[in-house]
Amino acid sequence: MRPRPPRAPLRAALPLLLACCLSCSGAPRAAPSEPPPGSPAGASGAGDPLFPQAGNGGYDVAHYGLDLSYDPGSGQLTGTAVITATATADLGRFNLDLAGLTVGRVTVDGRPAATARSGTELTVRPARPVAPGARFEATVAYAGVPELLTDPDGSREGWFRTDDGAVALGEPVGSMAWFPGDDHPSDKAAYDITVSVPDGLTAVSNGELNARTGAGGRTVFRWHTGEPMATYLATLAIGHYTVTRSRTPAGLPLYVAVDPRSDDPRTAAALRRIPEILAWESGLFGPYPFTSAGAIVAHLPKGEGGYALEAQNRPVFPGDGVPPAVDAGTLVHELAHQWFGDEATPSRWQDVWLNEGFATYAQWLWQEHEGGESVDRSAAAAFADPAAWAFPPASPTAAQLFAPPVYQRGALVLYELRRALGGPLFSKLLRAWPAAHPHGNASTADFTAFCRRLTGKDLTALFAEWLYGRARPARL
Ligand code: TRP
Ligand code: ZN
Repeated sequence: MRPRPPRAPLRAALPLLLACCLSCSGAPRAAPSEPPPGSPAGASGAGDPLFPQAGNGGYDVAHYGLDLSYDPGSGQLTGTAVITATATADLGRFNLDLAGLTVGRVTVDGRPAATARSGTELTVRPARPVAPGARFEATVAYAGVPELLTDPDGSREGWFRTDDGAVALGEPVGSMAWFPGDDHPSDKAAYDITVSVPDGLTAVSNGELNARTGAGGRTVFRWHTGEPMATYLATLAIGHYTVTRSRTPAGLPLYVAVDPRSDDPRTAAALRRIPEILAWESGLFGPYPFTSAGAIVAHLPKGEGGYALEAQNRPVFPGDGVPPAVDAGTLVHELAHQWFGDEATPSRWQDVWLNEGFATYAQWLWQEHEGGESVDRSAAAAFADPAAWAFPPASPTAAQLFAPPVYQRGALVLYELRRALGGPLFSKLLRAWPAAHPHGNASTADFTAFCRRLTGKDLTALFAEWLYGRARPARL
């Protein structure tokens, strides 16, 4: 949405055959089957070393307009995605990420475009190349039963079917299971997500519910996300939900949706603390970054999705029938991500410790605040855990994105910074870091440079030992 930090050089796109035009139903074939030699193409990846095919090159999305209709009985999702973007290169063709689903008519600026598919890449060849700097609108009609994806670490993401609906979870690369896009955190955009479901069901997504209308036995929910959002933070939950709308004392609108099967007294008690937790976190991390907040407590099939996800505005908690579906500590963690991850978003996936380290540290602070374990004891426990030392926090493989070093060692980096800087300067850093990246992206190198600039201290040795070092330091 806004200028991105410089990326790693884009890898040369493989020559793509555009022989099959499965999209232009009834439309004239808009392009020859082979791109002419030298035809400029957007890259098939955003240059992320861990997920080379995630995201794409050659354009920057400003807005996704998703118009979706879901049939829980068959599991069929029917949609149109209108993607408004600016070309950053001469685009004879460009890619979108999309897993599964069948693509129908595709247009660019209203003219039919040819398409081809290979793996999770949808290549679009506009009738006329898009000039660098030009704003364009790509419209993709699609349909099918969305896929549940399996990640390199074996966890599941994408589209979870439930007995009465579905839940979409997209970290790291699952949004492409339900809409075509630039599925990489470096390209944040605004969203309007409109969802039609049978009467009686609720569709919950990010941002604010602008309208809810009914006609012909169906209800249409219009969700608007004005602040830029990474694709992995987009969510959609369809099912029977009990919805509570309220405002925090500060006037922030809250929308909390709970699947009645995941409603238990401890979950309800934790959810009632959202205003208090947001006020406490705002005191530590600065003003809440978005125009609404809340939570989605779902009910997923047993064994599926054993993790909560910090969807923007509205984290998702996967109830699995074992109460509580949510506890205050997990709520604190996911709400802390609104500053660390959702507001200041990693530039590439290996920087995800900037999300998880801060969110874990927030939980340590909360436990101490609640009169439970002190931060010192949490840090000592993390330090003593051999699993936390498997690798340095900023160098996970794709299969280690959510492994203990990212969370525990990530939080220990902050603990050490607090020790080195002292309370007041560290508190300033906690607030200044998200504020320095308003709806933006940042890398580990950005973080270490930022710490030096803000504090005027040489933290080289600290980072060498705690952030980059392979071995566990002799003592905490
Ligand atoms: N980011 C989530 C959190 O708040 C965790 C998460 C997302 C996760 N995807 C995952 C954990 C896949 C394990 C596997 O911590
Ligand atoms: Zn987390």
